Amino acid sequence: MTAPLLQMKGVAKRFTLHHQHGAELPVLDQVDLSVHPGECIVLDGPSGMGKSTLLKLIYANYRASAGRITLQPPGGAAVEITEATPRMLVELRRHTIGYVSQFLRVIPRVSALDVVAEPLAEDAAGDAVALEAAREQARQWLTRLRIPERLWHLPPATFSGGEQQRINIARNMIKPRPLLLLDEPTASLDAANTRTVIELIHEAVARGAALVGIFHDTAVGAEVATRRVNVADFRRSA
Ligand SMILES: Nc1ncnc2c1ncn2[C@@H]1O[C@H](COP(=O)(O)OP(=O)(O)OP(=O)(O)O)[C@@H](O)[C@H]1O
Ligand SMILES: [Mg+2]
Repeated sequence: MTAPLLQMKGVAKRFTLHHQHGAELPVLDQVDLSVHPGECIVLDGPSGMGKSTLLKLIYANYRASAGRITLQPPGGAAVEITEATPRMLVELRRHTIGYVSQFLRVIPRVSALDVVAEPLAEDAAGDAVALEAAREQARQWLTRLRIPERLWHLPPATFSGGEQQRINIARNMIKPRPLLLLDEPTASLDAANTRTVIELIHEAVARGAALVGIFHDTAVGAEVATRRVNVADFRRSA
C-alpha cells in the first residue's frame, strides 16, 4: 500500500473557555487516523462530537492540544502541520489542502466567476492565456453546478444558501489538490445538485485525491465513503 497522505497520531483537542474562568472542554482525544490517496473517509457521530473540529485541526484553523498531524504531499517533503509556520500554511492551503467549509466566506465586490477562478488564476501569475483558461474552467464548474449565467458576474453576497454553497464547492474543488476536506457540502442542496457533488467526489477519488468528509445525509455518506470513522470513538471515555 502507498504511504498515507495524512497521518494523525494521538491528537487531542481541548477548548479553554475564557468566559468560564478558564474551564477546559475536552472534545477530541487520542485521534489516530491515516488517510491514503484514493480514500474517502466519512466522519460519523452525533452533533457536537467534534467532526468539524477534526477538519479544522487538519486545516490548522485550530491548533491541536496534543499529538501530531503529518502531511506527505506527493513528491514533496513531509510537513508537520502542528508545527508549520504561517507561511508554510499559506503554501499548504494553496497547493495541497482544499477545504469546503459549511459556509462561503464572501469576498466583497468580486464576481462569482472570479471567486471560483481565483485558485487557478493565482497560479496563472498574470499570464493572459492561463488566466483565460482559468476563467473558462470556472464557467464549466458554474455550469455543471447549475448556477444561472445571469449570476456569474454578480458578487455571491446576495446569493441563496444553496447557490453560495455551490460557489464554495466550485472554488475549493476547481484546483485538483491532493487532500480535500468537506464539511457538509450538500447540506442545502437539492437532489440534482447533490447528485452532481457525489459525482465530483467520485471523480476526485478516481484521480487519487484523499478526502475526509462530513455528510448530514447518511445516504450521501454511504455513496461516497470508502471507509467510515465514528468520531465518538475519539472521545475521552472517562
Ligand atoms: N472555538 C471553539 N471554542 C469553544 N468550543 C468549541 C469551539 N469549536 C467547537 N467547540 C465545541 O466543540 C464541540 C464539537 O464541535 P464541532 O463543531 O466539532 O461538532 P460537530 O460534530 O461538527 O457537530 P455538528 O454535527 O452539529 O456540526 C462542541 O461542543 C462545540 O461547542
Ligand atoms: Mg459540524
